[in-house]
Amino acid sequence: MLIDDKNWWRQAAVYQIYPRSFADANGDGLGDLQGVISRADYLKSLHIDAVWLSPFYPSALADGGYDVDDYRNVDPRIGTLEDFDEMVQVLHERGIRVIVDLVPNHTSNLHEWFQAALKAGPGSPERARYIFREGRGENGELPPTDWTSIFGGPSWTRVEDGQWYLHNFAPEQPDLNWKNPEVHEDFIKTLRFWLDRGADGFRVDVAHGLAKDLPEDAASLPSKAELDAMPVDGTHPLWDRDEVHEIYREWREVLNEYTPARTAVAEAWVETSRRPHYSSPDGLGQAFNFDLLDADFSAPEFRHLIAHNLELSDQTGSSSTWVFSNHDVVRHATRFGLPLLGSAEDIEHPDTWIKADQAKHFVLTDGAEPALDRELGLRRARAATLLELALPGSAYMYQGEELGLHEVVEISDDQRQDPTFFRSPGVEKGRDGCRVPLPWTAEGESFGFGQAAPHLPQPAWFAEVSVEKQDGKDGSTLSMYREALALRRELLTEDESLTWIDELCGEYSLAFERAGGWVTVMNFGDDPIALPAGKVLLSSGPLAQEGELPGATTVWLQR
Ligand code: GLC
Repeated sequence: MLIDDKNWWRQAAVYQIYPRSFADANGDGLGDLQGVISRADYLKSLHIDAVWLSPFYPSALADGGYDVDDYRNVDPRIGTLEDFDEMVQVLHERGIRVIVDLVPNHTSNLHEWFQAALKAGPGSPERARYIFREGRGENGELPPTDWTSIFGGPSWTRVEDGQWYLHNFAPEQPDLNWKNPEVHEDFIKTLRFWLDRGADGFRVDVAHGLAKDLPEDAASLPSKAELDAMPVDGTHPLWDRDEVHEIYREWREVLNEYTPARTAVAEAWVETSRRPHYSSPDGLGQAFNFDLLDADFSAPEFRHLIAHNLELSDQTGSSSTWVFSNHDVVRHATRFGLPLLGSAEDIEHPDTWIKADQAKHFVLTDGAEPALDRELGLRRARAATLLELALPGSAYMYQGEELGLHEVVEISDDQRQDPTFFRSPGVEKGRDGCRVPLPWTAEGESFGFGQAAPHLPQPAWFAEVSVEKQDGKDGSTLSMYREALALRRELLTEDESLTWIDELCGEYSLAFERAGGWVTVMNFGDDPIALPAGKVLLSSGPLAQEGELPGATTVWLQR
């Protein structure tokens, strides 16, 4: 059984499962909860503390499951509530906690509430759960505003009777009205539902978006240009409003009813100075920091971001979070193998892999990969991960990064699923390339993922990076993750301080020490650097010469 440790989350190693692409037990090409159960021993072998499962709810998959039809159920293609219970039990028995993904900013358009809102008509209590407005123009034929959704295209869609509803994401994801007490009550019910079934915590999707302030009268809504010019300082009509924290204070009371108190981590894309509001102990308690995920492979940049985030989490007594990959971004092995082209303007460039300043805005082109250095990208990714696992705070890893997977670009347009692809339209390839089902074996129908063709195509190179090929093999990425995570458990203490070793920090290197003489040195450059004294515990790549750390390599030392 699990130790009842109320601080387990502070320095947890959390592994994100994208359920539809992890393991397919029932042979329909989509991963499922029985698939997770069948790989429970694999998860244990990674020495992780928790898994976070991306949405497994019933969904028409307009946005990979982030369009939820029913918050208190499991998609029949993924399993049943009984499968969920079994999964929790099997993982708990192995010392692995379970974090459920909660999507409170929007439901799907198939959710019974939205269907009822469509039927009930303007001015009804059913519509008041969402954000419906009259259109502009003589007959309301123009949308209330010219705003664009995050996935591209307009933020408003018109319904049959002429009203328009707001969707900051896809049209299939109508935004909820959090001014409505019914919405509050229903989510409290959902929290308790999963907590009572054994969930240990939540990842909260678009946590900065729930509170909105939008006058009823469309004429007084700001234009897109006005909206974009508004400061996001707690008063913006759509994002990061101060009163969103009232919602999280309500949730915190519920989370604290359980022993130990349950955890929550906010996905909040906000100004860094505002992040502590989300991680405060009377709120969600922890917030994602995506700063390293957005960063270039640069020692000074990493140092600045690490130091800054440790200060931020100190402000509320939370712990920091570190992420290099997730289901929304180009995998870090690939990002770090792309040339730095600099600015977002380069995104227009038609036929190369492109690195822009925001990981979210990578544009990948099919097949053609003239500029990608796969080997360098992987070496750097491994080095970055070993650094991450030594930092104070929680490390959130994404399925497949333990295999050193690269982004999959071999997906033809007719096989794409991501709404960003369809709504850009076609300009952004979208996020399918990091969501391709995992390769478990070197051969077989879907490299051991299941018995049927997988829902996204797997490239031939998956064979070489499969679990089977890397399992137990010295120097493989899988072995490095396992060794690092096992060792991390031994080395971690409650002391969350970090001391920079200034004389070893420079343009191309970083070094710091944690309690107990655990030293991490990372070489960002191409040329070897001298290693300080100490016993080598683990390195992210081969150390050819004694006393030297090769380029794009990280080492852990004991002093
Ligand atoms: C979050 C999710 C992303 C999803 C979006 C809308 O950013 O991580 O996958 O598309 O929210 O729910």
